[in-house]
Order: sequence, then structure tokens, then C-alpha cells
Amino acid sequence: MRDPFIWAVATAAYQIEGGRETDGRTPSMWDAIREIPGRIKDGSSKEMSCEGRKKYKEDVKLIKSLGVTHYRFSIDWSRVMKNGKTRNPTGMEYYKDLCRELRKEGIQCIVNLFHADLPLDLYNEGSWLTEEIIPYFVQFARYCYEELHEFVSIWVTFNEIRMHAWAGVVKVEGEPFHSLDIDYKKFLGEVSVARAVMVASRNMLLAHAKVYRLFHEKNDACRVGIILGGHACFDADGETVSSVSERATKSMVHLYLDPLLHPSNDWTGGVREYLGEDLPPWSEEEKKLIKNTVDVMCFNYYRPHIVKEGKGPSLVEQIFNFTMVDDDWPKIGGDSSWVRLHPQGLISLMEGLRGKEGEQKYPNVPILISENGVNDDPSLNSLDDTNRIRYIGEHIDAILEARRRGVNVIGYTAWSLMDNLEWDDGFEVRFGLFQVNLESEEKTRTPKRSAEWYKKKIEKERREEDQ
Ligand code: GAL
Repeated sequence: MRDPFIWAVATAAYQIEGGRETDGRTPSMWDAIREIPGRIKDGSSKEMSCEGRKKYKEDVKLIKSLGVTHYRFSIDWSRVMKNGKTRNPTGMEYYKDLCRELRKEGIQCIVNLFHADLPLDLYNEGSWLTEEIIPYFVQFARYCYEELHEFVSIWVTFNEIRMHAWAGVVKVEGEPFHSLDIDYKKFLGEVSVARAVMVASRNMLLAHAKVYRLFHEKNDACRVGIILGGHACFDADGETVSSVSERATKSMVHLYLDPLLHPSNDWTGGVREYLGEDLPPWSEEEKKLIKNTVDVMCFNYYRPHIVKEGKGPSLVEQIFNFTMVDDDWPKIGGDSSWVRLHPQGLISLMEGLRGKEGEQKYPNVPILISENGVNDDPSLNSLDDTNRIRYIGEHIDAILEARRRGVNVIGYTAWSLMDNLEWDDGFEVRFGLFQVNLESEEKTRTPKRSAEWYKKKIEKERREEDQ
């Protein structure tokens, strides 16, 4: 008998809690980013927030009203460890309260340790460019484990590790600018940006593996995962998989899967060839440390890409010799949205892990879809979000169909519980099942049509699974 399917909804600490609180929280890099004039596109002030911390009891009721089995949330490192380094029990108390409240309602926790935001001091000391950060991350994780393990069903170390390494540490051509643009040469000497990005990736992978080992020493039955962005790529010629699309997928997905899960336990051909000297090597000991440190493989999925041969302008396209081209898939979140409706991209990505007939490229690790959703379509009334219902619905149906065909997918997570800080876009790009009125004192939450729809969909699918 398989475990029942996980139905979840997600948020991230900084996106719903913001920075301003008086529980001993210390500044984070996103507090600093938001202070830079012009960096946040909607011009919202650093003080603007959904006040998730204050309103957690009400929010747990919203989560309950969706009928989900699990809630995925993240822990603000700057809140539970002062300056990222010293335990702050007052800050931790909030997460314990949240977990207790969830437990009261019978909702299980998927706890994500790192979601894009780093304590400011640690960022200034070199962020993920230096190995010195690893013990601090382990200390933070140990504290979370000690205080919260009784509540947690799945631990996740990093949200979208690739996204953070390429966008959240140094400024990289063609990637979102989600950092303070640290001078990486101060820490690494005269190396290329690609090298800096790969050093950051390597340090994050090592930090992940150390936390995985630590948690398993404490309880070998615990489940620890990591989140990758689901960047499936297709060839411009009829959406097929060819050498260029395979290479592009490798550059964004397998670059991280390989050291963790590939039988070689190392970066594989397609990646080595293109990154060359910029790929920092693994020692034999590190390889042993990192090998198979994934109990649950998590993917955030919003869209695939169409690619063709020849270097595009971004760093990843330059290195791996491909160009992303426009597609004509439904935009579904309005003209300026980057999200696309193409569930098959996710299915191909999951099926691709198994390899061709009879070949098992990667171990058959359970897969959790850890984020999927779309922003409000500006041409619709936000509360009447039929675009979201269509988007989420088509993805759920495709995922459940893949599960029936034998793909080892164990759960689905809608992004997001409520409208929140969409990073540098501010609050105007809204992914919530609940609308948040930021102008109101109470930061009033109002269900959109998709909230009721998601509840009914879950009920229906759970009934069918039971039969
Ligand atoms: C993901 C990210 C989330 C959220 C989402 C929607 O990549 O993990 O924090 O911003 O995109 O844009």
C-alpha cells in the first residue's frame, strides 16, 4: 500500500512575515535589498508585510479550510539565530507556536530551512562563496531540529538551490537580481562569475549533505529533501528532446541532481564538458558525504523552456551554448507573466529521471511537487481567478495521471497560500489562493474562487484514492 498522496499549500518566511518584528530578529539580506531605492518594482516600503507572524492562528484556519494534509513553510534564519549565529529562543517560540497550532488542526509540516533569505551579516561575510558559512547553516539546522522535529514530516534544506546560487549570491547576466551583488573576488580571487556561482552551488550542496547526515544520525527514519527548479527544456522543433534541449535541462536541473543522486555521484559528461575549469572538484570524502542524501526529491514547477542551438545572452546560455526562444504556450497570468501552462513539461522531467526503457538513470526517489501556481491575471477580477483554477487543475490532473502510470510522485503543493512579497516584483504580482489587503490595518485575507475549488478538488481526489 502506498502512503496517501500529500496535498499541500506553501509560503516562505520572508514573503509573508517580512522583517520588522521585535522578537530579537536581526536584519537579513532582503531587508537590505528592499532599502535600495528602485530595487523593488512596485515601490513598496520595507515595512510592508502580510504580517504572517502576527496572524499565524488565523492563517492556520485558512490552511485548514483548504482541506490540505500538509503545510510547507520556511524558517527565517535571521529570526531564530541572531545575526545567523546565536540562538534566539524568542524567535523560535513563534515557529513552535505555529507547529502546535498546525498539529491541533491535524496538518502536517513540511519545513524548509532556507528560502532565499540570508542573515545580512553572513551575506556580507561572503554568503555561500566561502565554506565558513556551512557550520553556521548546520548550527541553525540543528537548532530547528531540536525544537521542531516532533512536528515535522518532511525537512527541506534549500528552496531552488540553482536559483539561489545563480541569482541570490552575486549578480549574474540574465538571471533575476536577488542579491546585494557582493564583490566575489574579495573572497575567491580573480576567477570567473561562473566559477563563483559553482563554488556557491558546491557549498550549498555540502551544507545540504551535512544537514541530511545530522538529521539521519538523530533519527534515521526522518525524511530530508532538497528543492530544484523544474526547468524542463524542449527543442524548438516540435517540442522534442534533442541534444540541445537535453543539454539545457542538464545545465539547470542535472547540474544539481548529479552529485546528489547520479550513480557516478559526480557531475556528468554534458556538464563537465561545458563548465570545464569552472567546476570545482569533489574530494572522495565529499563525494561519500553527499551521495544519495535525498529522501524526497522536490521540484518547483511553473513552466518549461524552448531552446535552440547557439549562445543566447545570459550566462547559462553562453556557457552551455543554447538560446531560449519564445513559445506559444498559454500565458495564463496575463501578458507580462513569465508563467506558462504546460503540464507536460513537468511530466517529461519526472519521466526523464528514469531514463529510457529499462535504464534507471537516477534512483527511484519519491518526488514531491513543492510549488506550482500562477499569478493573478490582471484582466480578471482577482477574487474570480479562473485562470488559477485552470492552471492548478491541469497540473494536478497530469501529475495524478503520471502517478497512475507509475511515476513515483507523492504529493502536490500549491503556491501560494496568500498573496505575498513576490521578491523584487513587490506585492503587485499575486500568487495567493487568498487575497491580502495590504492597505487594511488587519491585512485582511479573503478567499479567491480557487481556494474553494482547491478544497473540492482535494476532497474528490482523496475519495477516489480511497476507493
Ligand atoms: C519560486 C519561489 C517562490 C515564489 C515563486 C513564484 O521560484 O521559490 O518564492 O516567488 O517562485 O514566483
